[in-house]
Amino acid sequence: MNEMLSKPRIGIDPYLDWVKGEGVPVVNDYAIYLFDVETAPWPRYGMKGAAVHCEGRGDFASMFLFELPPGGSSTPMRHLYEDVIYVLEGTGSTQVELADGTKRHFEWGPRSLFSIPINARHRHFNGSGQKRALFVTTTDMPLIMNIFHNDKFIFDTPFEFAERVGKSEYYSGGGDMIMIRPGNHTWETNFVPDLEKMKLTEWDERGAGSSIILFVLADGNMHAHLSEMPTGTYKKGHRHGAGAHVMIVSGTGYSLFWWDDAKDFKRLEWRHGMVFPPVERQWHQHFNTGTRPARYLATSMGSIRYPFTARKRRSTGTTSEGAEIAVATSAKKGGDQIEYEDQDSRIHPMFIEEMRRNGATPKMDKYFEDDGTPKVRAAR
Ligand SMILES: [Fe+2]
Repeated sequence: MNEMLSKPRIGIDPYLDWVKGEGVPVVNDYAIYLFDVETAPWPRYGMKGAAVHCEGRGDFASMFLFELPPGGSSTPMRHLYEDVIYVLEGTGSTQVELADGTKRHFEWGPRSLFSIPINARHRHFNGSGQKRALFVTTTDMPLIMNIFHNDKFIFDTPFEFAERVGKSEYYSGGGDMIMIRPGNHTWETNFVPDLEKMKLTEWDERGAGSSIILFVLADGNMHAHLSEMPTGTYKKGHRHGAGAHVMIVSGTGYSLFWWDDAKDFKRLEWRHGMVFPPVERQWHQHFNTGTRPARYLATSMGSIRYPFTARKRRSTGTTSEGAEIAVATSAKKGGDQIEYEDQDSRIHPMFIEEMRRNGATPKMDKYFEDDGTPKVRAAR
């Protein structure tokens, strides 16, 4: 056949072609409420599922939503992509077969977080005979499929990565706290039973009483961190690369998103089960307007241990020894954070009004006068 007459093979996205070939529902949106996503049988996994593609997912990551029916179990499998699993609903267990032939088994429930070591054989079980289990996994499958273009290789390679197994307590809720500096403190494990109970570390530079813990899961490239905002507070605005899948774990609030030259903010109200990765370099800011602390989880490709991209190294302050953490450094100093005194004048009144409506008390006195004037600016 004349090559000129056939369709040229250009602009191919092997990951999207693979998803299409799997025949499962695909949802595309800026923010996605996972409890509303339609799932359908996904034969490869032996579960119902859907691909979740947020606008800000970036080039390396995507999400799969999985539903295990009452008493159901997934197909035993292994794969060369990595993932971070967050349980939305239900209880169950996961069995992992390790390189040395031993097995690990752990039980999960709502707000559990875990990773399977790369290419380890594993299987999920729903522990309830009456209720479904629903979990979402953030994966680097777009990266892996776009490198190899071959699902048989990704799902059917018997290689054992013995160095990724981790300690046995990593599968039972134990782990190692690695104290580095505020904003970088890391909990290394494979399984976190309940993010609501996880102890966080202070990171005041990100805003009033803010706290965080980063995770290294299964010694992987996939990142996760958990942040908390105390009652009556909000974090400082900031920006970073695409692909940070923010999921609301607990609490009430909203997030704002904007571009430098935009006249208005995009605003999203929080609900448990919602995911929204801000798009590449888009400014955003999170607000707790409820009467209890608010927590959110963020998952992405590029961990504190293996940042993967130069941009991730910059935002996490891992470019060199003692480098600044860009997301906690003022934009005036070349970083990617907007200090309270520099933020748009509409932001604070919007928060105060929301607090009033919720009957909650703002606790931003350290940063703002009673009339809403930022304290640092007033002092200059
Ligand atoms: Fe962010």
